[in-house]
Amino acid sequence: MGKLFFFYSSSCCLLFFLLLCFELGSAGNVTYDARSLIVDGQRKLLISASIHYPRSVPAMWPGLVQTAKEGGVDVIETYVFWNGHEIAPSVYNFEGRFDLVKFVKTVQQAGMYCILRIGPFVAAEWNYGGVPVWLHYIPGTVFRTDNENFKFYMQRFMTYIVDLMKKEKLFASQGGPIILSQVENEYGYYEQGYGEGGKRYAQWAAKMAVAQNTGVPWIMCQQYDAPDPVIDTCNGFYCDTFKPTAPHRPKIWTENWPGWFQLFGAPNPHRPAEDVAFAVARFFQKGGTVNNYYMYHGGTNFGRTAGGPFITTSYDYEAPIDEYGLPNLPKWGHLKELHRAIKLCENLLLTSNPVNISLGHSQEADVYADASGGCAAFLANTDDKNDVTVTFRNASYHLPAWSVSILPDCKTEVYNSAKVHRPDMQNFEQVTSQASVIKMVPEDLKPSVQSSKKDSKSLNWEVFVEKAGIWGEADLVKSSLEDHVNVTKDASDYLWYTTSITVSEDELFLKQGRSPVLMIDSKGHAVHVFVNGQLQVSASGNGTVFPFKYKKPITLKAGKNEISLLGITVGLPTAGPRYEWIPAGLTSVVIKGLNNGPLDLSKNTWTYKIGLEGEKLAIYTQGGMNRVNWVATANVPKMQPLTWYKTFVDPPTGDEPVGLDMLYMGKGLAWLNGEEIGRYWPRKSPKNGKCVEQCDYRGKFMPDKCLTGCGKPTQRWYHVPRSWFKPSGNTLVIFEERGGDPTKIKFSKRRTSGVCASASEDYPSATVHLKCPEDTHISKVKFASFGTPRGACGSYQMGDCHDPNSVSAVEKECAKRNECKIQVSAQKFSSKGNCAAGKRKLAVEVICSS
Ligand SMILES: *[C@@H]1O[C@H](CO)[C@@H](O)[C@H](O)[C@H]1NC(C)=O
Ligand SMILES: *[C@@H]1O[C@H](CO)[C@@H](O)[C@H](O)[C@H]1NC(C)=O
Ligand SMILES: *[C@@H]1O[C@H](CO)[C@@H](O)[C@H](O)[C@H]1NC(C)=O
Ligand SMILES: *[C@@H]1O[C@H](CO)[C@@H](O)[C@H](O)[C@H]1NC(C)=O
Ligand SMILES: *[C@@H]1O[C@H](CO)[C@@H](O)[C@H](O)[C@H]1NC(C)=O
Repeated sequence: MGKLFFFYSSSCCLLFFLLLCFELGSAGNVTYDARSLIVDGQRKLLISASIHYPRSVPAMWPGLVQTAKEGGVDVIETYVFWNGHEIAPSVYNFEGRFDLVKFVKTVQQAGMYCILRIGPFVAAEWNYGGVPVWLHYIPGTVFRTDNENFKFYMQRFMTYIVDLMKKEKLFASQGGPIILSQVENEYGYYEQGYGEGGKRYAQWAAKMAVAQNTGVPWIMCQQYDAPDPVIDTCNGFYCDTFKPTAPHRPKIWTENWPGWFQLFGAPNPHRPAEDVAFAVARFFQKGGTVNNYYMYHGGTNFGRTAGGPFITTSYDYEAPIDEYGLPNLPKWGHLKELHRAIKLCENLLLTSNPVNISLGHSQEADVYADASGGCAAFLANTDDKNDVTVTFRNASYHLPAWSVSILPDCKTEVYNSAKVHRPDMQNFEQVTSQASVIKMVPEDLKPSVQSSKKDSKSLNWEVFVEKAGIWGEADLVKSSLEDHVNVTKDASDYLWYTTSITVSEDELFLKQGRSPVLMIDSKGHAVHVFVNGQLQVSASGNGTVFPFKYKKPITLKAGKNEISLLGITVGLPTAGPRYEWIPAGLTSVVIKGLNNGPLDLSKNTWTYKIGLEGEKLAIYTQGGMNRVNWVATANVPKMQPLTWYKTFVDPPTGDEPVGLDMLYMGKGLAWLNGEEIGRYWPRKSPKNGKCVEQCDYRGKFMPDKCLTGCGKPTQRWYHVPRSWFKPSGNTLVIFEERGGDPTKIKFSKRRTSGVCASASEDYPSATVHLKCPEDTHISKVKFASFGTPRGACGSYQMGDCHDPNSVSAVEKECAKRNECKIQVSAQKFSSKGNCAAGKRKLAVEVICSS
């Protein structure tokens, strides 16, 4: 902020300047030492949150950033998405969701810092790891190694972004919010696979970045040989034992995964809030100073931005803010309390050296004390089974298994990562982390008055059906099966492979009424087989195994038969050594059961067509809509492949976030008003998968530890941002590949229908605090039990010990209110039944209505 500073300070407007400075969330020069980042001469302990700008919409940005700030976050982190910005060599896009400058300024306006992970390789479950596909097809290019082409385009893009940020004065050294930047991403995993070239590339990338002269430090995550002054940082579920490779670098956690991503056809991973909090508390206990949640808001992979194969359109990530922008409770609240507890220790953490004390076999304290008598402590129990009571400074503390307690004064436990409730430091009231019951409330699609001239009461679908096979001119004719991506260059998910065969009337299968068998081998990701225009077989790989084989009877007739295979990619690979060469598409097509033995079609003459006609004509846009003849029909076709559906709808009522319910559709793409909702595929995960009824938070987390949703569609709802709706006449366009029932498509509104909280009487004034969303009130006490209730929010159950008056006692305090607090005291409640064992608690679930 150099120039500005001198200007204002010399013109007696210092106060005004300081106010301005504060409001704009500006920073100052950023340096570091072994302990922490130093911003404008001040040590910092930072809570950071990943929010990727193109995974939501500009209308959502201020709210997301604000919800993060309320959650105790200081910094917003984002990757920069190269293939979203440089759509062709030197052709740049910074519009709409890709308006990076606007996003960084939104962070600045909230008075927060920003970490810009430019990459430009990012992985991120984003198509092709963020690198433009066109770069792969510039001859001689090899990604992420000492390759002249790659380095040239990478440096050019990196410089473009840095210059853009400089021009807008967004680096902290210029008075802006950006305090750190990243070059490359998790390269250490693969560097050795690239040999000497890899080593040279990593060094080059670091030097190239440093030479950009941003005035703020550079980081490289998972990079064991990051050269000075670049800081190597940690990614993982736990980073407490991480040490930067040079002793003068601070301990930074760039990716703390509070959940995990999802794959079409796989169950849903769940990471309990208690374990995330444990990991974060351990990190700060052991000297960490920057913790970034990847993701804090995951959002949506709109359009074809999801990587893969098979990464879902939802990128919810079970993050503290859900895909739709609502706080994910109790995770958001539990971490907010954690951040508050850590911030109470900030000064001592940054100014004193820890002393560790063993408190037992798997229990330890780290004590941060200074000369003036200040003292903060973290008490950890890393035993993953047993709760223990430890003695620390002559007082005893109950430490549940796999938990950390935070004592900002070395006496008072203000937080324990595994406890549902804890005393508030100031007034010793027990604060509970509220949980919520979230519902997708269905609403039928409402025809828009503008839509149909004849009848505005019922929804009118108009239909355009794609031809199975080549439309327009062929793109390629070859006597071989070509790699899918080599042909499409990812201009579309779809590639038609067509050929024909002639079946003699002498074929025995015709006379015997048998069916020949089609055998296909594919490197992925999915295919629909049409014979003579009829869909006969659909097949696909999955997130575990991309390639697939398929064997199924098909119907052939005497004479000429048209074989049309619609090959499909479902997101390109995002990472891995030489990931850009991973093949896709058909490698063998054989028909068995003919008189002359197996007929291998792999060397037939294949005619190729890239994409769909409707895509090419952009019939999902206002401008392209009338390029085909839509057929309006009272009986809309169901279970029909290759069908485009279009209708005009009003927005759903209210202002809750909206998801499109595609449970009864097959697979395809969807748009609203030309905006790309993305790929839909309500593909079910296997019924016999390893799902759990209840998740034990204790012990090391892995993505397959607490799976849910076995036998159910991985993704049923598809986020449609509210800002995409007009007051009326919204065009909803669906392309269905395989067959579905569009009459069952609905909007669903994401609503907090109820809230829960619980507290036990083991603190002197335990209080259950319930708060419904704004403009709603508590309309019903769905569950209340003082005694030994079990289960979690949404599925509480009475235990052996229960006060039959629990519901009425809660109703008295809460009915018709937006918010209420109930003290858990034996005077208010009595208990009946078998109440001998353990402490009693009060668990409540209420319904919120407007
Ligand atoms: C950052 O440091 C440079 C060089 O010492 C100085 O010119 C500039 O004013 C500083 N910027 C801020 C915002 O303090
Ligand atoms: C305590 O700190 C010492 C010195 O840093 C270290 O060697 C030891 O492993 C630590 N103990 C624990 C339990 O972390
Ligand atoms: C703990 O108690 C002992 C004995 O009463 C006393 O000497 C010591 O100072 C106490 N320690 C602390 C930290 O209060
Ligand atoms: C994926 O496909 C492979 C091969 O067909 C199969 O063995 C595996 O069980 C499948 N995985 C899932 C999660 O369906
Ligand atoms: C794709 O094309 C490249 C040449 O651009 C070739 O080297 C590569 O082998 C092809 N991939 C496959 C799977 O055929």
